[in-house]
Amino acid sequence: MVSVAAYTRTAYNHGVILPEQPAGFAPQGQAAMPYSVLITLHLFAAFIFVGTVFFEVLMLEGVRKHVPREAMREVERAIGSRARRIMPLVLLVLYGAGISMAWHYRAVLAHPFDSSFALLLSIKILLALSVLGHFITAVTLGSRGKLKTRHVQRIHYSVFAHMVGIVLLAKAMLYI
Ligand code: HEM
Repeated sequence: MVSVAAYTRTAYNHGVILPEQPAGFAPQGQAAMPYSVLITLHLFAAFIFVGTVFFEVLMLEGVRKHVPREAMREVERAIGSRARRIMPLVLLVLYGAGISMAWHYRAVLAHPFDSSFALLLSIKILLALSVLGHFITAVTLGSRGKLKTRHVQRIHYSVFAHMVGIVLLAKAMLYI
């Protein structure tokens, strides 16, 4: 049975007709993970990732001018190696759940200009792919020992801007 909550918080509300199962429901007869589990995993992983990025920009960049350069570099190195241990799993959950949810909307996403939901979700996905590109660049440079402070700063600000866009789009796509 379709719950009121499932209807009110999906694209159904916004004139998008989904030939697939509505949010909150796994396709019948398939052993797919329920949509409610996917979105919960997605949300948890998103807030760990977004929280880390916000911490890096709002806290770390903010203290940079009060801390000796070498000490800051050490902190960045330590945070970098911690991030390389934790983030792959967080990103796997975030992108895995995101792609699985997007699969429910595949028919809608095939026509990105036909509805504001499809357009905003498509832009959100493009921004998310760009974030992944930033992360891979940082990890690659870091593991080769080529990640300089100016790279770290640029990546922080760029990913921060992407995050603001992604979170706004994730909510706007359900209401515009
Ligand atoms: C940096 C990466 C990402 C972040 C920070 C992020 C963040 C979010 C947030 C905050 C929501 C709203 C969840 C809610 O209100 O319950 C959301 C929804 C969603 N995301 Fe992502 N996301 C990311 C990547 C992706 C990717 C790669 C895809 C698909 C390829 C995706 C697909 C979706 C879909 C389909 C929804 C709508 C769920 C719904 O309300 O039915 N996301 N995302």
